[in-house]
Amino acid sequence: MSLKNDLIIRAARGENTERTPVWVMRQAGRILKGYRQIRAQVSGFVELVKTPELAAEVTVQPVDLLGVDAAIIFSDILVIPEAMGLPYVMEEKKGPRFPQTVNRNDDLNKLSIAGEHELEYVMEAIRVAKQKLDGRVPLIGFTGAPWTLFCYMTEGKGSKTFSVPRKLLYSDPEFSHKLLDMITESTIRYLKGQIRAGADLVQIFDSWAGILPKPIYEAFSLKYIEKICQSISEVPVIVFAKDAYASRASLGKLSCDVIGLDWNMDIIESRKLIGPDKVLQGNLDPAVLYGSNKEIEKHTHRMLQEFGGIKHIANLGHGVYPDTDPDKVRFFIETVKNFSN
Ligand code: CP3
Repeated sequence: MSLKNDLIIRAARGENTERTPVWVMRQAGRILKGYRQIRAQVSGFVELVKTPELAAEVTVQPVDLLGVDAAIIFSDILVIPEAMGLPYVMEEKKGPRFPQTVNRNDDLNKLSIAGEHELEYVMEAIRVAKQKLDGRVPLIGFTGAPWTLFCYMTEGKGSKTFSVPRKLLYSDPEFSHKLLDMITESTIRYLKGQIRAGADLVQIFDSWAGILPKPIYEAFSLKYIEKICQSISEVPVIVFAKDAYASRASLGKLSCDVIGLDWNMDIIESRKLIGPDKVLQGNLDPAVLYGSNKEIEKHTHRMLQEFGGIKHIANLGHGVYPDTDPDKVRFFIETVKNFSN
């Protein structure tokens, strides 16, 4: 199916575009009333993720309501651990929790390398979403980076320090590399499945990139991200490594097309460190959207000027906060669309 709006694909490949494309991380979710309504029809988050028709509907909502240049498939990064044998529960107001965790070599026998087959419900959601989109905008597939998934699988829940996974890297590097390898293999199969099902580009979220010192981050995270990037040549790949300041030069060397910047990463400095080749994505502070329209416009213009209108995909510097007014998100998107460098 040909795309009526392929701005983001052309931008991700480094081509010059008529204007800067824009989408918003976590656009398919709680900021939209329509999402909350659909979510209330089912037993909870996990059921919504596993119901392709509803997941597809939630995926398309921001295209109609916010005017973004891409949809992102509604799912979660935690579907990979579940497919490997570690189910998660999503606790209201608290976030994800894994009733069982893995911590030593023996535990790995409980896990298997998973991917396309076990995650057929995501593939089906992608196929339905592609039909519903009818070529209006591209569809982004996604996955968690192995390191970020390792954090949840070993700690069992969100954490400020993630001391369990960090401890394991030093106390049992052999186990750590084995588990990271299994997650990486699963992720490659999963992304290839998403692409076969219709994903037009893919993003790897390394949400916990910022908690490791540089050499450890490179050995236990970037190495595996690079393996994934090298395996995916069918569509553009975006890598978003939140808080990975120290490793920006190394991010620039990955075999991917786009690097996401969080809102604390200085744009000019990041461009210098990452080099001229990569497309950059980001990076408005999500908190700016609590400000007045005048304030949003001022900060969005400054951001667009600093990126300079080339090799840039506009986005926030992390997911949109759940209590953000959707009108403010729409205003941000309009501001990007109306801007000309
Ligand atoms: O719109 C989109 O971006 C697509 C859907 C999407 C979700 N999660 C849906 C979701 C995406 C891309 C994710 C990625 C994700 N999930 C990440 C990486 C991005 C990031 O924010 O750093 C992480 C770390 C997770 C794990 C996760 N899922 C957590 C920590 C939580 C609880 C905190 C929170 O944000 O709510 C979730 C739950 C979750 N994932 C919700 C949604 C819409 C809210 C659940 C609900 O509806 O009750």
